[in-house]
Amino acid sequence: MDVRKKLSERFAGVEGGLFSNVTKADVGDGFSAMGKDKVTLMGWADPFYPDPSIPEHIKQVMIEEIQNGFPSHYIMPSGSLALRERVAKKLKQKNHLDVDPKRNILITPGSDSGLFYAMAVLLDQGDEVLVPDPSYPNNFLDPKLLGATAVSVPLAHDDGYSLDIEAFQAALTSRTKAVVLTHPNNPTTTVFRKENLEVLAEFVIKNDLMLVVDQAFEDSVFDDIEFITPASLPGMWERTITVFSISKGMGLSGFRVGYIAACDQIMDAMYGAAVNVLGASNTLAQLGAIAAFDAPDFIDPYIQSFDYRRKKAFEIFGSVPGVKIEMPESGFYCWVDVSGLGDSTDVMNYLVQEAKVAVNDGKNYGKQGNGHLRIIHGCLGSDEEAVLTMRRMADALVKYPKRNGE
Ligand SMILES: Cc1ncc(COP(=O)(O)O)c(C=O)c1O
Repeated sequence: MDVRKKLSERFAGVEGGLFSNVTKADVGDGFSAMGKDKVTLMGWADPFYPDPSIPEHIKQVMIEEIQNGFPSHYIMPSGSLALRERVAKKLKQKNHLDVDPKRNILITPGSDSGLFYAMAVLLDQGDEVLVPDPSYPNNFLDPKLLGATAVSVPLAHDDGYSLDIEAFQAALTSRTKAVVLTHPNNPTTTVFRKENLEVLAEFVIKNDLMLVVDQAFEDSVFDDIEFITPASLPGMWERTITVFSISKGMGLSGFRVGYIAACDQIMDAMYGAAVNVLGASNTLAQLGAIAAFDAPDFIDPYIQSFDYRRKKAFEIFGSVPGVKIEMPESGFYCWVDVSGLGDSTDVMNYLVQEAKVAVNDGKNYGKQGNGHLRIIHGCLGSDEEAVLTMRRMADALVKYPKRNGE
């Protein structure tokens, strides 16, 4: 019996590496097995991985909580109210969203599940979702898993990967239900500018659409670029579901804590089904997250480190003939154009062999990702080690044997 035929059509073609060699960083066990083979992993968007990154004050709170015994119990499916209160304060200060922690915030087990839930609450079978390309792979897969279709809307390097509203207009059909935005964009690092987001908001409102925004990387935005939360733009609060994470900015990816902000009507449905879909996030981790929000200054040195590393990445990869890189605008990764060397999958595999470093093939981020690599410079505990590893990659790339056109 071919049991695969029993699987839902929505999951057809999804591979986890049991029957094929999947090299995507976040699929199956293949990537972590490379780590055991002494390959340095720079393809997981996980700050300082594999070095420890729980600040002392958070660790202390969690140890005390374990000693008190409470974390062995469920927390309510919408999340700890104390955490939602801290989040509401942060949403007001940073995101200019004035929300009620009892009505407009949902704590999720990380933002990947939050993103999926945000799409699940909006999408019906046959709906179409406009997805800027390149962007986060979930934006393409999640709609498919929900029976909808992700329609790729190209972003162009020469336009600074900004949102091209004419391209959105061209992709619009009577079935279009929503736009999904990763802002700042992963993998290009683009921070969408205010004017660009205002035009997107106009497009969303004019065409009676919804917007899902993933702001997982909002904490590290460089060069004083103004960061705008689209839900705060006029007319957008009720049309937007915003997904956040403590994994990236706070370096607490293993806690599995994210949160969603949305209006009453959307949140009512989300609260209603949260127990069935999400269960609840980890109780102890939420207590740790409260401690993180209470004293968040620990992230300042993280941002300084990411800033230093992005400049080094720009310098190191920019000096390799045939390789192009723009100065990253956000996050702790860089988007490197290796099309001058050859096919990006070949270049990625070559780096594993020659430099013993694993990075991401740009093809995972949409059609426009062809010819690119995403390199996470924010991995590894010390700046020195990150820089040395990037130099090792650059030295290997200089010697890349099959240069295009040579
Ligand atoms: C853009 C983006 N959104 C969401 C996530 C998910 O993060 P988490 O589930 O740890 O909150 C990631 C992780 O790589 C990401 O890159």
